[in-house]
Amino acid sequence: PAITGSTRPTAARTYGELPTVAGEGMTALREWVDEIAALTKPARIHWVDGSRAENDALLREQVEEGKLIKLNPEWRPGSYLARSHPSDVARTEARTFIASEREEDAGPTNNWAAPDEIRATITPLFDGSMTGRTMYVVPFSMGPVGGPLSHIGVQVTDSAYAVTSIGIMTRVGTDVLREIAGGAPWVKTVHSVGAPLAPGQADVAWPCNDEKYIVHFPETLEVWSYGSGYGGNAILAKKCFALRIASVIGRDEGWLAEHMLLIRVIDPAGRAYHIAAAFPSACGKTNLAMLRPTIPGWRVETLGDDIAWIRPGEDGRLWAINPEAGFFGVAPGTGESTNVTAVETLWGNTIFTNVALRPDGDVWWEGLTDEPPAELTDWEGNPWTPASGRPAAHPNSRFTVAAAQCPQIADDWDAPQGVPLDAILFGGRRATNVPLVVEATDWTHGVFMGSNVSSERTAAAEGTVGELRRDPFAMLPFCGYNMADYFGHWLKVGQKLRFDRAPRVFQVNWFRKGTDGRFLWPGFGDNSRVIDWIIRRIEGEVGAVDSPIGRLPHPEDLDLDGIDVPQADLDELFAVDPQLWLQEADLTEEFYRTFEGRVPAPLWAELAALRYRLQRA
Ligand code: GDP
Ligand code: PGA
Ligand code: MN
Repeated sequence: PAITGSTRPTAARTYGELPTVAGEGMTALREWVDEIAALTKPARIHWVDGSRAENDALLREQVEEGKLIKLNPEWRPGSYLARSHPSDVARTEARTFIASEREEDAGPTNNWAAPDEIRATITPLFDGSMTGRTMYVVPFSMGPVGGPLSHIGVQVTDSAYAVTSIGIMTRVGTDVLREIAGGAPWVKTVHSVGAPLAPGQADVAWPCNDEKYIVHFPETLEVWSYGSGYGGNAILAKKCFALRIASVIGRDEGWLAEHMLLIRVIDPAGRAYHIAAAFPSACGKTNLAMLRPTIPGWRVETLGDDIAWIRPGEDGRLWAINPEAGFFGVAPGTGESTNVTAVETLWGNTIFTNVALRPDGDVWWEGLTDEPPAELTDWEGNPWTPASGRPAAHPNSRFTVAAAQCPQIADDWDAPQGVPLDAILFGGRRATNVPLVVEATDWTHGVFMGSNVSSERTAAAEGTVGELRRDPFAMLPFCGYNMADYFGHWLKVGQKLRFDRAPRVFQVNWFRKGTDGRFLWPGFGDNSRVIDWIIRRIEGEVGAVDSPIGRLPHPEDLDLDGIDVPQADLDELFAVDPQLWLQEADLTEEFYRTFEGRVPAPLWAELAALRYRLQRA
């Protein structure tokens, strides 16, 4: 092969087959790979070409090494189960850093570290961290290769599990190298599980390290992740690049990188609408992305379930793509009665992590079926029965599967220019206060709503489950810069839109509970009833009730045909208690104050107006 660049194999290291792609940009890539290899000292380097054969070989190797369990192909062809170390099961937000030059650019919601200092801390950790292991070089594209909203990156990793996961979640391959060779900019991401192998030392099923660092350098467009094999910490293209780093690129270039699902809704008349929705982790994005409407005549096509990149178009509308190529979804709660589309998507070619194993070699998790099987092996590899008194699957157990496998994926889901947005939804998990749906009066009010989202903590990140925390735009753990500047950026993007073409903004809450602790709203497929109202609002077909917090549906406008929600529950679902909302307003003020004067004035004005309306209510 025609090798250009500076790669100098040493006696101790084999360099695998170097890609044959030549071009100016390849020199810089090879030099960088050399540099990382010199630091991490792997035994081998493997340039990943994204081919089927390569993927099959990587999966086979992981099975041979005891890192993956091959599922029974009769039930789950081409599928595997990974069991993580019990300490490495979720994103570690306390170990996640934004290393911007100035502390104020990270803002109070991020852990900031001075770039020089954190480099001085992590470089010794990466020194020799890949000893005895293979270093994979994975070129990937977020969005279709070469698309106008797409961006590319390279991940270096010593985890084959990460490589096979990235292969599902992104577009990996030599065509990305061609872009790099041609001079396209790319983001540098480095990942090591932090478990070097001494000569002769046996490997473990899930190598990781107690010490963890997930560090983002927004100015130099780099991510360095150490010590964890868990998806959100190891598939660096996803939360690290496509949200934290991309949000910074978007700020500088005038677009938005958002924690949003993306769907096309088709009404009975055949009219299509595009909706993006931001919900915190484990608050229903994947479910809404795969919605099966329970009202006749409606259809939903899936475009994305976790991340949207959104850009104002020449036409004054917002255009969105899903930059990913797969779903990394929460398994528990995914079942025939909740998300049948996901269940069908998972028919095969899926990597499961931390779910339970059935005696017949298939998988199971809480909520897949109403009744658990009599016998299982739990996510930690221990025997389990329904009497065990603990979940068989970890609450944050996951599936990794190609988007193309989703039976209701839109034909044009990977169209490079994306789709024009008609509505944006903000939501969270709120047992109280927040109504089922409320419409913002205009873009600024919508940004105010987004900035105020709070949600109960879930198992998707470390922390106490159930505790209420502010999660503006569902971006609290994912905004790569000062959150107050991010609010300002949203306001600025709004100014680029034509007033009559900007998406309408709504807040939704599927999770409100009665005093008896039961969900008041059936949720899942019945969320189509809320979508129906939203679309009729967009079309101007229904009016709304003005409330202090925004516009609520007239009771008769919500289509409840075929479901039985008691009137008392409906009243509670839409109840707006001015006293409780005034308390929320105090919390908003407290939150805004943590930004020390950086929250844009229009949002303070919204807060003042909200209080005025609540006091008069
Ligand atoms: P994501 O992480 O935001 O993609 O969230 P998921 O769609 O994976 O859902 C996370 C959890 O919320 C799962 O246990 C779901 O069953 C549950 N969930 C999703 N949608 C609803 C809903 O409309 N109502 C209720 N009660 N639970 C839901
Ligand atoms: P999610 O995030 O819960 O929003 O799907 C995946 C992750 O844990 O990184
Ligand atoms: Mn999800």
